Amino acid sequence: MALFTWKDEYSVGVQLIDTQHKKLVDLLNSLHEAMAQGKGQNILGDILNQLALYTKTHFSTEEKYMQQFNYSNYTEHKKEHDDLIAQVTEIKTKYDSGQGLLTLKTMSFLKDWLTKHILGSDKAYAPCFKENKL
Ligand code: FEO
Repeated sequence: MALFTWKDEYSVGVQLIDTQHKKLVDLLNSLHEAMAQGKGQNILGDILNQLALYTKTHFSTEEKYMQQFNYSNYTEHKKEHDDLIAQVTEIKTKYDSGQGLLTLKTMSFLKDWLTKHILGSDKAYAPCFKENKL
C-alpha cells in the first residue's frame, strides 16, 4: 500500500506546482516501497538522491515565483524550505555513510512535513500566484 495518496485538497490551483507536488509524492512512495521490499542500498540511495534533488528543484520553482510576484511571506516560506533541505541532506549524508538507516519514522516525518507544508504554507500563496496569472 502506498505511503502517501494524492488528494484533490492538496491542489494549490496551479498546474505546474501540482505536477511537481505529485512527483514528490511519487518519489516518497517509491522510497517507501523500496524500503518495504528490502531493496538494496544502491536502489534506496538512488531514490533518496532523486528525492533530495527534486525537492530542491521544486523549492526553487516556488521561490522564483514568490520573488517575481513580491510575495509577502517569501522569507518565512523560504526558511521552511531551507530547513527541510537541511534535514533531507542530513538524512542522505547519514544514509550514504552507513551511519543511518531509512526507517518508517523518517518516511512518516517526510510525508507529514510535505502534507502540512502544502496544506498550509503552499496554499497560502495560491491567491497571489493566481492574481499574477500563473
Ligand atoms: Fe511546495 Fe513550499 O513547497
